[in-house]
Amino acid sequence: MDHHGIAALHRRADRVLPRIFRDYVNGGSHSERTVRANRRAFERWAVVPKCLVDVSDCDLSGSFLGATHRLPFMFAPLGFGGLMCPDGEIRAARVAASAGLPMAVSTFAIQSLETLSRVPGVTLAAQIYVFRDRGITRDMLRRAESCGIRNIILTVDTPITPLRLRDVRNGFRNLTRPSLRHVLSMAAHPRWTAGMLRNGMPKIGNLAPYGMGSNLMEQARNAASQIDPTLTWKDLDWLRSVWPGQLAVKGIMDAGDALACQKAGAQTVIVSNHGGRQMDPAPSSLSVLSDIVEALKGETDVILDGGVRWGGDVVTALALGAKAVGIGRPWAWALAAGGERGVRSLVDGLGGEIRDVLRLGGMVDLASLRAQGVAALRPVR
Ligand SMILES: Cc1cc2nc3c(=O)[nH]c(=O)nc-3n(C[C@H](O)[C@H](O)[C@H](O)COP(=O)(O)O)c2cc1C
Repeated sequence: MDHHGIAALHRRADRVLPRIFRDYVNGGSHSERTVRANRRAFERWAVVPKCLVDVSDCDLSGSFLGATHRLPFMFAPLGFGGLMCPDGEIRAARVAASAGLPMAVSTFAIQSLETLSRVPGVTLAAQIYVFRDRGITRDMLRRAESCGIRNIILTVDTPITPLRLRDVRNGFRNLTRPSLRHVLSMAAHPRWTAGMLRNGMPKIGNLAPYGMGSNLMEQARNAASQIDPTLTWKDLDWLRSVWPGQLAVKGIMDAGDALACQKAGAQTVIVSNHGGRQMDPAPSSLSVLSDIVEALKGETDVILDGGVRWGGDVVTALALGAKAVGIGRPWAWALAAGGERGVRSLVDGLGGEIRDVLRLGGMVDLASLRAQGVAALRPVR
């Protein structure tokens, strides 16, 4: 599949997916201002071209999540990622393995950690929540460890789930009792529907051991109500004491919170507003990046996600101090648009764009980008 940019994958996914899933992926909370802010923030920066540097070779490898990866981006955790096409997450994991980037597996993934960890060569990070029933959280940690997973990503920006108007309008949470409108919408998207029906009714693989319901939406509802809204920094200390491996905390937007993560012993902070799906209006993730990087003084790694759609966005985030970026919606769109080939085109395309931008900016690797830092950029007036 030729690469025509992430925007083209998005357009194609919009045609392939029934409306209820298209809106689930694309949407945000409340006014969706934060979704738009994440994109706009990147458009305020330009990369300065620099000439007469030997850029015949360009190496994108770099270290984040406690290991060296061939590309400076990862698949952010997406609930229901496996609904984008049959065996969606397995296909994404195969591409991640062959391209040399890590994949975060959502608690709400369709395929379980066990299934995905069997994909040869894949590096997974397990995204978890602290559930009211700490026994479930401990069991998820045990399972991650027995799958050879060394990174846990604790998501902390979801003490509640805010209104997502598109999902309300579509009756997303009532999907277990499909209305005539749902059925007609599925029938109007036969490629997706036929693919899904072949595999039978999907379930949330990671939650199957905990008896949370007999179908997808029941499981999702019960698990969402298990996310503990009483969580405080003391619980992060608890998690640190029961998980000896690498810990990343996701959903941090404030320098004081980032410092508290550092103090609690997290190796990585993921600057993220959940792709505009939680707090609305939140600042764009890019606009708070420099403050957080500065506060952490290089002792804790920073990964950024939210609105990354072009190679230039990745270069911008790295110049402002991120070690890597996460991409969320793009890998869902790529799966819907073209399955494994779609994801391959996304990863190769984004990698190629990053290389183009670095070379035209007179840089040959991530170390030379880091050395220039913000001097590689100019604000767009
Ligand atoms: C459809 C969808 C489902 C998501 N599910 C989760 C999840 O289960 N856990 C989590 O930590 N973040 C989840 N996120 C947030 C992403 O990990 C990431 O922060 C966000 O998508 C980044 O923004 P982007 O989509 O603009 O790249 C989800 C995002 C989307 C779009």
